[in-house]
Amino acid sequence: MRAVRYHEHGGPNVLQVDDIDRPEPDDDELLVAVRAAAVNPVDTYFREGSYSPGDLPWIPGSDFAGEVEAVGDDIEEFEAGDRVFGTGLGNDRPGTCAEYATTPTDTVAHLPNGVGFEEGAAVALVGVTAWRALIDHGDLEPAETCLVHGGSGGVGHVAVQLAAATGARVTTTASEDYHDRLEAVGANTVLDYRREDLAEAVEEAGKPDVILDHRLDDYLQFDADVAATGARIVGIGNEDVAAGFENVPAARSKELTITLMSMYNTPDISAVLARLARLVADGEVVPEIARTYSLDEVDEAQRDVLEESFLGKLVVEP
Ligand SMILES: NC(=O)c1ccc[n+]([C@@H]2O[C@H](COP(=O)([O-])OP(=O)(O)OC[C@H]3O[C@@H](n4cnc5c(N)ncnc54)[C@H](OP(=O)(O)O)[C@@H]3O)[C@@H](O)[C@H]2O)c1
Repeated sequence: MRAVRYHEHGGPNVLQVDDIDRPEPDDDELLVAVRAAAVNPVDTYFREGSYSPGDLPWIPGSDFAGEVEAVGDDIEEFEAGDRVFGTGLGNDRPGTCAEYATTPTDTVAHLPNGVGFEEGAAVALVGVTAWRALIDHGDLEPAETCLVHGGSGGVGHVAVQLAAATGARVTTTASEDYHDRLEAVGANTVLDYRREDLAEAVEEAGKPDVILDHRLDDYLQFDADVAATGARIVGIGNEDVAAGFENVPAARSKELTITLMSMYNTPDISAVLARLARLVADGEVVPEIARTYSLDEVDEAQRDVLEESFLGKLVVEP
């Protein structure tokens, strides 16, 4: 099969397409013919070697959607021909930028017939992240106010829609080009993150009860300053490795809960994927596909995911 691999850590130029043997599923695994894989910033961290997954050469890619080609002997809930989607690969097991991938079943769900493979791959990792942040850690409830930083991003655009689907009031930040689309999919207030008066504008929209923060080094103090008393702040990312408060008492007086999380720790990923599949099938969550790439273009896709501005997800079609 054709698979994107890197044989050494480094920039996007270490990615190449190799012809390798198709993997065989173990008794507790599925072999999936990958129809779509999504690109995430974490793929670039693994490639650079900042957290090293398995031994090189390595196949990047966490998300996939496709058709079950073969099932391990112990598996009952899936059969050959099933349409499925999943995430969590490319970390401690080979990834999804390939014609085939093997996966355990606890990170996979059935893909409803009306949902395309691109949408399935696009929503998987970012959808589980948004769910874990807003629902599991944030305990977001109807009529609460939710602030999603970076609402046009992969995580952000699903988080906005998931928060709206719960009945929360949603404030989000994004570049100007994406404001109309984010309002159309459920944001009540969309603000340019470059505004000088961003804190005042967020508070005017309603002090947030739950905040999803993907740039903790930029926004941790900001979050504490704008948050409602008793707010839950969930941190998923950072640009600089260091982040902290400039004014601890201001944060302390609000009895804030701060959770730092990794999607990979989500206890029952398939259950979350099954719920996301229902929301996508019902049109409550619309995964946006900004661009598609071939296997030969994964280097470009990994460059774009960090350097380009887009709404939604970049998707690879093997
Ligand atoms: N902990 C976890 O489990 C987990 C899971 C998924 C992702 N993450 C991390 O979360 C971060 C976001 O992931 P992603 O997949 O959503 O990335 P993404 O698709 O690249 O989105 C990033 C978004 O951030 C926006 N942005 C850039 N500068 C900003 C600023 N100063 N303030 C507010 N927004 C800004 C970008 O908008 P413009 O392009 O218009 O500037 C873009 O929409 C990454 O660091 C990723 O590694 C962590």
